[in-house]
Amino acid sequence: MTKVAVANGDGIGPEIMGAVLSIFKAAKVPLEFEFVDMGKWVFDKGYSNGMTPEAQQTIESLGILFKGPMETPKGKGVKSVNVTARKTWNTYANKRTFQTLHGVDTVFSKAGIPIDITIVRENIEDTYGGIEHMLTHDVALSRRFITRPGSLQVIKYAFEMAKKKGAKRITCGHKANIMKLTDGLFLDVFYEVAKEYPSLKSDDVIVDDLCMKLVSRPDLFDVVVLTNLQGDIVSDLCAGLVGGLGFAPSANIGDHISIFEAVHGTAPDIAGKNIANPTALLLSGFGMLRHLGLMEAATIIENALLYTLESGVHTGDFGDKTIPSLSTTEFADAIIGNFGKEPDNNPKPFIADQEPTPTSFKLEKNPMLESMELSRVSIVGVDMFVESNLQPTIIAEKCLNHTADIFKLVTISNRGTQVWPKGSSFTNLVNQYCCRFESLGGEAVTQVDIMELYKRLSHDFKICSTELLNRWGDRKAYSLAQGQ
Ligand code: NAI
Repeated sequence: MTKVAVANGDGIGPEIMGAVLSIFKAAKVPLEFEFVDMGKWVFDKGYSNGMTPEAQQTIESLGILFKGPMETPKGKGVKSVNVTARKTWNTYANKRTFQTLHGVDTVFSKAGIPIDITIVRENIEDTYGGIEHMLTHDVALSRRFITRPGSLQVIKYAFEMAKKKGAKRITCGHKANIMKLTDGLFLDVFYEVAKEYPSLKSDDVIVDDLCMKLVSRPDLFDVVVLTNLQGDIVSDLCAGLVGGLGFAPSANIGDHISIFEAVHGTAPDIAGKNIANPTALLLSGFGMLRHLGLMEAATIIENALLYTLESGVHTGDFGDKTIPSLSTTEFADAIIGNFGKEPDNNPKPFIADQEPTPTSFKLEKNPMLESMELSRVSIVGVDMFVESNLQPTIIAEKCLNHTADIFKLVTISNRGTQVWPKGSSFTNLVNQYCCRFESLGGEAVTQVDIMELYKRLSHDFKICSTELLNRWGDRKAYSLAQGQ
């Protein structure tokens, strides 16, 4: 029998996991569950990544983790175990499916507008790298990594999944109009991959517009793929469209290990009361069963859940308040009692030869190494981020005093807005400036030249950070300051 690792989680985790596993056992799902130690109490025992070495070993050998929500201890300098797990095991695609559930009233269900949206969120990169520095006492910097191979892997997965699902449309959500290099790269990769799927309608929408369109016409969307942070926000928006976090399942898909969990957290306000809604975790469990090819078991339980919801049975967080709500365990028992029944609206058909959705999309080669002609890369300058509370003209004077013979000072910006040579007295300043130096005559320079500049500048300033200005052929591989 296939074995999967199970982590109960914190807060409501043990209650909802207990409810879901009781349903699986009653349905005789052919799975064995091996419990592992992860979560807040594991942090408290001194394991800084929130899991014991035995848990890590078990998960790595079984390849599937079914997990309850886990709390991130506040103010202890530890990182979220949820994010650590996703990143450690390279579960690069986070798939979240949001569907109209009859019996769960929303403005859209009442208006007869059906929703079936799958959000695929990149799960490793972006600001979730958590690479942050205080540059000065007042200025924090977060690095946002978007890479070609990382984008390619998740976008390929999204297209494959969309094709298998029979989706009609796949949309890339982004902010490439502002973040031209990072979101621009993600969008470029999206359209490169789209060429391989001519039968799928592919398009893109700027993320703010996407949010507006999702709340006004959610029925027009099918599969939406986004970078990590934007995907996180947009998927919670979609949870709201179908009735809230209690109905939002999630699958973190990787090449070797995949993690299935609800989108919601530990709900500390209702923990230990046996009133939490186990539906999101149960829906995540269906994703796991289908991922493992257990289609029939998933369909039987899913139909029982849909029938239960349709008959008005509910926990306290949703449903008709004139009908008494059930506890977590009673709700699970009601589903078990409805095995073999089918809902009137959209019963899930069991198709015997239905294939599991793609488990992962493994890259055969690293296209980043392939796509670059290194001979065409040249360094043409450097951004020096300096700490100072002086006015821009004085900063420029100091820079020019020591460096004019080796580099050209082209612009000084503060929080991304140009303040020298031109600027506005209305621009608010913080004590950290970016001084952009370009080579004299636009010639390529070396890192030794940059070090000389660094040495000279450090007489006058504390240099907090530097970024090389690269050029790929004729293309500048850096953004301009606002107003430059
Ligand atoms: P939360 O999702 O735990 O709770 C938000 C609200 O939704 C609360 O009012 C809660 O009672 C309600 N709620 C959530 N799940 C519910 C359910 N199944 N049934 C009924 N009501 C439900 O979000 P919050 O409060 O921001 O986070 C609490 C903790 O959970 C934090 O430590 C956070 O880091 C962690 N968290 C863990 C996640 C994971 O393990 N994947 C995801 C999100 C948060």
